[in-house]
Amino acid sequence: KRLAVFVSGGGSNFRAIHEAALSGVVIGDVVALVTDKPGDRDAFSLQLFGFARWGFDVVEWIDAGCGGAEHARDNGIPVVVFPKSKSAPEGISADELLNALRELRVDFILLAGYLKLIPIELVQTYPKSILNIHPSLLPAFGGKGYYGLKVHKAVIASGARYSGPTVHFVDEHYDTGRTLAQRVVPVLPNDTPEQLATRVLHEEHQVYVEAVAALCEDRIVWREDGVPLIKSQT
Ligand code: GRF
Repeated sequence: KRLAVFVSGGGSNFRAIHEAALSGVVIGDVVALVTDKPGDRDAFSLQLFGFARWGFDVVEWIDAGCGGAEHARDNGIPVVVFPKSKSAPEGISADELLNALRELRVDFILLAGYLKLIPIELVQTYPKSILNIHPSLLPAFGGKGYYGLKVHKAVIASGARYSGPTVHFVDEHYDTGRTLAQRVVPVLPNDTPEQLATRVLHEEHQVYVEAVAALCEDRIVWREDGVPLIKSQT
């Protein structure tokens, strides 16, 4: 199967999936990286440092950088810039994105820290074929505004004892599509958001690779009530 991964940030999930595809754990090829932030990490951090001086809350963005695009370029994976914006004037329109994905014969779309809502046309063109990973146990701590360290800060502030990543199918809203897989990690009494994020991210790489492997091997069954289940490998 042919995979397109959408990334805005560091790209560690993208790298985990790419490595799994190279090693054969995932039977598929990563044929494109789609990003709204194509610039390199250093330039991007500098640009945001300028903003930070004016008091915007951008600390986690600075940490995120643009590692995904760097990794794609280093590995000869085509980088598609979407959408067009001030910081990415070389970007393309939604129609052009659909054409590009068609030309690349993409079967599945994997969102991995892509911060923008994807165009509705994409959701309609790729039914049951778009996954996202979110760093909390959805439906808790999901939706617009819950991204990056904000999720982990909210989990800690709530007093929840457990957290963990959710892999879900994508619909036209943020974080509301059907859950495909989850992993649980403890929230420890003195956790900082960064510590919890690291613990969750470690599980993200594993659960996303497992879910993508199942998708590529056609091991997802849809229960009558619309719940997707992963069949184990025989
Ligand atoms: C992850 O925490 C993911 O759950 C969220 O964005 C983050 C992306 O991390 N959607 P990375 O860019 O894959 O390192």
